[in-house]
Amino acid sequence: MRAGLTRRMLVASGLLALVVSAAFAVLLLSIADLRASERSAFHSEEVLVAANRLERLIVDVEAGERGYLITGQNSSLDLWRSGQAAFPQQAQTLEQLVTDNPGQLALAQQIQRDATSYLRDYSIPLVDAARRDLVAARTPAAVDEGVRRIDAIRVGFDQFMAAEQNLAAARQTRSDTAAHRAIVAAAAGLGGSVVLVVLFAGYLSRAIVRPVRQAAGMAGRLAGGDLGARLPEHGAAEIGVLERSFNTMAGSLQASRAELAASRARIVAAGDQARRRIERDLHDGIQQRLVSLSLELRAVEATAPPEVRERLSEIAGEMAEATDDLRELSRGIHPAILSEGGLRPALRALARRSVVPVELDVDLPARPPEQIEVAAYYVISEALTNTVKHAHASVARIDVRAEDGALHLSVHDDGVGGAAPGHGSGLVGLTDRVQALGGTVAITSPDGEGTTLLVELPTARHDQPS
Ligand SMILES: Nc1ncnc2c1ncn2[C@@H]1O[C@H](COP(=O)(O)OP(=O)(O)O)[C@@H](O)[C@H]1O
Ligand SMILES: [Mg+2]
Repeated sequence: MRAGLTRRMLVASGLLALVVSAAFAVLLLSIADLRASERSAFHSEEVLVAANRLERLIVDVEAGERGYLITGQNSSLDLWRSGQAAFPQQAQTLEQLVTDNPGQLALAQQIQRDATSYLRDYSIPLVDAARRDLVAARTPAAVDEGVRRIDAIRVGFDQFMAAEQNLAAARQTRSDTAAHRAIVAAAAGLGGSVVLVVLFAGYLSRAIVRPVRQAAGMAGRLAGGDLGARLPEHGAAEIGVLERSFNTMAGSLQASRAELAASRARIVAAGDQARRRIERDLHDGIQQRLVSLSLELRAVEATAPPEVRERLSEIAGEMAEATDDLRELSRGIHPAILSEGGLRPALRALARRSVVPVELDVDLPARPPEQIEVAAYYVISEALTNTVKHAHASVARIDVRAEDGALHLSVHDDGVGGAAPGHGSGLVGLTDRVQALGGTVAITSPDGEGTTLLVELPTARHDQPS
């Protein structure tokens, strides 16, 4: 059992949703990464600011101490004191900022130790000594030691800041990579989704839209009477079922129409045969008897006494009229001349007897199949009767020719027009007879402009009634 349409659609939609959400997941992860990198870049900046501030405090302490040693003025010690006071707090801030990085924490602690030692073991004792005796405290050894200690602290700060800048640079690189990845993920997701949507649309169009359009086209052809129309049967799932059902339906319609046409043709043929038989029976039976009775009567009349001879002559005359009437009647039932001589002489006889003058043009290289010949005769006979009965025409024109595997009949009059099947039984019966043979009828009869009847009877098919 192949998958149904619903399942196919679900699978295709699920696939699309999967690709789109995977692309979005990668995008979201990359954005989160990017934000983390940004945060750590900001953190590095904070660390550098804190380290700068701390260094500035040490520099202040050293400058205040040196100023006092040179000038001996107490005001120089303000900077020295405020630097010392702020130092522990600022040193702690810096350490807290780098607790998550052991390398930087060790460097910061080293700086703090060096600076604390500088304050406790050098700067405070030196200032105390200078307060007691300024000149004695200003020894070159003391100055050298100060320079050495400050240089060591500076070196510490330089190391710390260089390391922090390296960290910041590494973080920047990571953040650039994350941003790049986010862009690639977004582009790939977008591109992938577009490709999938296009593929999906293509699949929908091929698997559903096109077959449905074909089915609609076929339904239109069926509705228009083309029962031979069929669909290709390679659709998937329910579409395939639809195509097969459509074809089966068209096949049944076609078969029943063919059956109907065959049965109509059989009915018409049976009617024609019956008429021919009646005509033969009349001709060979009653007509012959009437003729021999007339001859006998004429013989009796010749030898009869004069007083009955006149009466016998009258009776013989009426018998001749009755024989003529019977001949006319049997011709109407089926003209013997048609079976014997074909359409041309039969139509000629018809035209001769017509009250309205007839121009006749028959162009037939050979006799058409019997059924077609009989149908053509009755069609023209009915049309001509209508012209005489309804048209008030001055002339009728009849054309018969064989062309492209069909017999083409045309009966035209210049009468009043307005012919319409359904107002009587003649045109309807004529149409039935033609359609039973697979032919077509077209009646053009505008008021006041005469009437034209065009009939096509296919001669290639229906050679013999079944
Ligand atoms: N050649 C014609 N000229 C004018 N009117 C016609 C002609 N043929 C048919 N008609 C009209 O069409 C109607 C239908 O014709 P038909 O089916 O042969 O029936 P009907 O038995 O009346 O002849 C006629 O009653 C007549 O009014
Ligand atoms: Mg009629």
